[in-house]
Amino acid sequence: MIELIEVSKSFGANVILDKVSLRVEEGETLALFGPSGTGKSVTLKHIIGLIEPDEGDVIVDGVSIPNAGRSELKRVRQRVGYVFQGSALFDSMNVEENIILGMPEQRVREDKAGCHERAMECLRLVNLERQVADLYPSELSGGMQKRVAMARAIAGHQAYLLYDEPTTGLDPKNASIITNLIAHLQEELGVTGIIVTHDIENAFRVSDRVALLYEAQIHALGTVEEFLESSDPVVQSFVRPDTESVPTA
Ligand SMILES: Nc1ncnc2c1ncn2[C@@H]1O[C@H](COP(=O)(O)OP(=O)(O)OP(=O)(O)O)[C@@H](O)[C@H]1O
Ligand SMILES: [Mg+2]
Repeated sequence: MIELIEVSKSFGANVILDKVSLRVEEGETLALFGPSGTGKSVTLKHIIGLIEPDEGDVIVDGVSIPNAGRSELKRVRQRVGYVFQGSALFDSMNVEENIILGMPEQRVREDKAGCHERAMECLRLVNLERQVADLYPSELSGGMQKRVAMARAIAGHQAYLLYDEPTTGLDPKNASIITNLIAHLQEELGVTGIIVTHDIENAFRVSDRVALLYEAQIHALGTVEEFLESSDPVVQSFVRPDTESVPTA
């Protein structure tokens, strides 16, 4: 389970999160929407302890992240796959080495052949050829980098997955492949996930619930159906961006 309990975060005078509470149940996938610059990435970063809350608590897998010691934090992070918004691949490592970073250190030391095979399997899952394994991030298109980042996030059979705009910049076919992979991870492997996205159509296909972050708070939270039927004008502008202008924070 992932839980934010009354989390507040400001950068200087800029209040990003104001007592935000949010709970993602075991095996659930939550889509997190919100205008650009509203704090979606900041919210995800709290979950792996890259950003500390000013107030409140963040519980992942039963551990309070802001209060966790070094080794405990490392253990939890190993169970959380993170697809960073900008892919965040290591330029000096080839694709296979980048993917292997997502695997547990002990396995990497003891089972090199198994890790290689798993890296190849993850490439296949994100619809990339085996030959891509030897390339460096600078030799890949943005969409390919995104899929490698996805492969790294799932490489260690992580129980939690945080996707920060996993389909942005992908062509419709690959966006659909990634969305199907997210659905498969959730349905068949019971992964607990949060998808930050502007891709409403794909997100609604795989999400159990939807949250809308707006003006530093969870403005709305509900099932896909509840979102689609909501008469709240802010929700409406996200669900049907064609008919109304998207409000900015
Ligand atoms: N480390 C930081 N230091 C200072 N300000 C930050 C930091 N990280 C994020 N911010 C600010 O917090 C706000 C929210 O940023 P965040 O990246 O979470 O937005 P977002 O909702 O993910 O937007 P987008 O959809 O454009 O990715 C922005 O105003 C950003 O400039
Ligand atoms: Mg972001």
